[in-house]
Amino acid sequence: MMKIVLIFSLFFEFCDSAKVLLTVMDQGRSHATSITPLMHRLQKDGHTTALEMATYKKDMDFGMEERFINMSGFENHFISKDFFKIAFEDEFTFIHQAVPFIFGSISCDRILKHQKERWLEIANEDWDLFLSDSLFSPCGYAMAEITGKPHVMMHSSDVESAHGSFKGFHRNYALMVPNFLPYSMSNFTIQQWWHRVVSTVDWFGSAFITSGVAGFAQKWALRSIIPFPFFSFYDYNRRSVFSFTDMPDTLYPVGARTNDYFSFGTYCNPPKSGLTEEWEQFVNDPKSKGTILVAFGTIIDWRFAPEEKFEIFLNVLNKLTDYRVIWSMKGDRPDGLLEHVKVSSWVPQQQILNHEKTVLFLSHGGLKSVKEAVCSATPSLFMPMFAEQMRNAWLAKSKGFARILNKFHLSEEYLENHIREVVEHKSYQSNAEHFLSTFADLPMPALDEAAFKFKRLFKYNGKMPKYFYPKAIDLSYITTLNLDILIMIPILLGLVVSK
Ligand SMILES: *[C@@H]1O[C@H](CO)[C@@H](O)[C@H](O)[C@H]1NC(C)=O
Ligand SMILES: *[C@@H]1O[C@H](CO)[C@@H](O)[C@H](O)[C@H]1NC(C)=O
Repeated sequence: MMKIVLIFSLFFEFCDSAKVLLTVMDQGRSHATSITPLMHRLQKDGHTTALEMATYKKDMDFGMEERFINMSGFENHFISKDFFKIAFEDEFTFIHQAVPFIFGSISCDRILKHQKERWLEIANEDWDLFLSDSLFSPCGYAMAEITGKPHVMMHSSDVESAHGSFKGFHRNYALMVPNFLPYSMSNFTIQQWWHRVVSTVDWFGSAFITSGVAGFAQKWALRSIIPFPFFSFYDYNRRSVFSFTDMPDTLYPVGARTNDYFSFGTYCNPPKSGLTEEWEQFVNDPKSKGTILVAFGTIIDWRFAPEEKFEIFLNVLNKLTDYRVIWSMKGDRPDGLLEHVKVSSWVPQQQILNHEKTVLFLSHGGLKSVKEAVCSATPSLFMPMFAEQMRNAWLAKSKGFARILNKFHLSEEYLENHIREVVEHKSYQSNAEHFLSTFADLPMPALDEAAFKFKRLFKYNGKMPKYFYPKAIDLSYITTLNLDILIMIPILLGLVVSK
């Protein structure tokens, strides 16, 4: 009996003191903030959580210990003018996905040249577990590789089809909405043969880009510390001990999953405080028929928008004089904006969305924005700009509380019609409320369940016993897709015919 008590107390001691390092892409505020609520939940259980990333300028306080690598003085490729050109004017496909992986690799190569001491110092702290941003952070992956510590893949949107395939999820991604849904396919449906072809191309294209092009760039970036046969992103995914995703289960189509998969994203947090006097006064103007919030996330900078697109927004927002419009943007207030439009570089987004007078959220469709629209039951209009935003917007549209704006079709008439369509029809509001009513209907709160799964991982020293993982991880695609069995059919037919 004493022994058991002793073992138990030892076990709890380990749980109390687990040290976890989350490694994200360069200046990766967007990815990090998708994961911070889970990190804060782990802190409640007594774990130590830290965040690693390369920084080019000061960033916000993430409420975790900081293990930043100061790269100020170098150029951050992720914020180039070319990026804004893509965001406002180009299609975004799985091919574009190679670019940020290459940027991440160039940056990592530089870190290992100029800041290797700092990098090693962080890697060699006594971490129990590494949490890896699924996208663009090879220097973070290498910390787990060289120390031999277990790692978890953290997905700030859903588990990308390439990563999911590497991990042996055996999802039929042809029957799911593609990660990079083309901007012209807001009517995507798996009933249509052609649409399934588009899904399949996106799936296999992503797998090729991620393991091939992105894989090669990362091998190159890490060549000095992981020599031949070099780092393999494919194997890194396969060997991860768990995959956690911020994509709410209720928003995403049902797909096959394994034991080592969990979505922690199905939760809503009420705003911590109310609106300040200044905002309160603006939105409660008795002449206002409602508040419209225009906010395109932390990355899109309107100062770099093409002039004609900017003018279209400005002119249309000026026409909505019955409403109070809040336009989140950096820089000075543009000339010619009317009184009913308030411009600010910082907007209390969550509080505004939860305010009873808010009638529309006009945004880019990043997953965090879609979730804020869901949690505040706000009718939305999404104009996807890059990454998987079109897919997120489609998910919201398919729940009936949002419409999608095609950035290629943007004109004053087009934008105004869509805004009026959403604010003047009650169905968007009632669909939003209906969806929210069952959104987080779970046996236990998602973050608590995620914390439980971490606790269990720590109990097994960071890796579950072998039986926990699917056999497919160790088999080739030829075997797991039964191609080696199906090949019998033509052979037998051939034999019969040739007789
Ligand atoms: C990063 O380094 C630069 C100089 O190389 C320094 O001026 C700056 O204060 C440092 N930033 C932080 C957050 O330490
Ligand atoms: C999408 O479907 C709606 C309703 O079925 C239809 O009105 C609209 O024209 C379709 N749009 C496209 C681009 O096919």
